[in-house]
Amino acid sequence: MRIYDIIEKKRDGLKLTKEEIDFFVQEYTKENIEDYQASALLMAIFINGMDEEETVNLTESMARSGNMLDLSAIEGITADKHSTGGVGDKTSLVVAPICASLGIKMAKMSGRGLGHTGGTIDKLESIDGYNTSIDTESFINQVNDIGIALIGQTGNLAPADKKIYALRNSTGTVDSIPLICASIMSKKLALNADCLLLDVKWGSGAFMKTPEDAERLGALMEKVGNAAGKKCRAIITDMNTPLGCCIGNSLEIKEAVELLQGKVKGRLYDICIELTANMLELAGKGTISECTAMAQEAIASGKALDILKKTIEMQGGNGNVCDDTSLLPQAKYSHVIYAPFDVEIVSVNAEELGMASLLLGAGRISKDEEIDYAAGIVLEFELGDKISMDAPLMTLYSDTVSDFSEAALRAYHAVGFRTLTEGALT
Ligand code: URA
Repeated sequence: MRIYDIIEKKRDGLKLTKEEIDFFVQEYTKENIEDYQASALLMAIFINGMDEEETVNLTESMARSGNMLDLSAIEGITADKHSTGGVGDKTSLVVAPICASLGIKMAKMSGRGLGHTGGTIDKLESIDGYNTSIDTESFINQVNDIGIALIGQTGNLAPADKKIYALRNSTGTVDSIPLICASIMSKKLALNADCLLLDVKWGSGAFMKTPEDAERLGALMEKVGNAAGKKCRAIITDMNTPLGCCIGNSLEIKEAVELLQGKVKGRLYDICIELTANMLELAGKGTISECTAMAQEAIASGKALDILKKTIEMQGGNGNVCDDTSLLPQAKYSHVIYAPFDVEIVSVNAEELGMASLLLGAGRISKDEEIDYAAGIVLEFELGDKISMDAPLMTLYSDTVSDFSEAALRAYHAVGFRTLTEGALT
């Protein structure tokens, strides 16, 4: 078999066989195929697409390119949750402890943030002492002991994805539904949990810009998961506006803790409950309405917060942040943006706020950049709120950037106002 013939076949819009896909994935992982030929094939896939069978074969081959975890030593139903990435998305920090508090074994490996999107691992590492890189044996033992472990990718899981993703990032081939599906699902299949809940986001802050594309990606990921014998469900959620009011690593831990303390309601709370109820139902815990009530009760009783605290402590972190969020990193510098007139908030661009937060140091543009854990943005409004002139709209924080001019301009322009007539707010 020759990679040249496989490239030509996909270039001409033909369907690749399982053997051809496997040849590409395994040989590229072993560095027997050059980057320029892999790039050509990825671009042909980007342009001509892949059907469902090709995508299943690509995903399974990528999942088999390294170790497949064996979670059979974990007693009970194992579950994993994945978000396709967003701004202010701290739902894993809420959903996983709630599910664990209700008896599901949450074996969760998460990623780091890149660009304007955040990653759960960076958020957890903002907690003093928290260790996200524990070995597979300790991971499995912890899930057995307390029902949950929240760690970064361990072992040699789906190495094909690491290589292919890096190449896609530098060849303009990221935004392809079959390639995104194979990238996400190969890591999930290698992790091998019984149930998988996928939060597929659409909107300005997400990879998928329309709900139709998010539906397409979600349906494809469900099919790939089911083909591998997993219980898999995709929920489509809106990422045009940030989730909750905090963007940035320690700020998002604070908001997740406050939600589990019962202090946060609104869209973030509702999405967390919806995701949790679907995970519980998928794992056979009851109907959606029964599972919704269980999720709400786990927050109200404090059981889910206790589990988060235990998780942090088991992984070497300061669990007291669950009682006192001022123990989280605090920024040296801050800057408040005020409403210029009496205004109604008519739009909020999540991607632009994510970029402003990145400028403050909360994210990274390239993989190896350091993160400022205290940096980020706290919004003082929700979409549709009316704000008086000179009242605060948002506060920007940073430990590393003292000149806020660029980030503040970007954050200000991320908010769409309707100016209210004089006296409308009095
Ligand atoms: N997240 C991934 O892991 N892969 C993609 O291709 C996109 C988002």
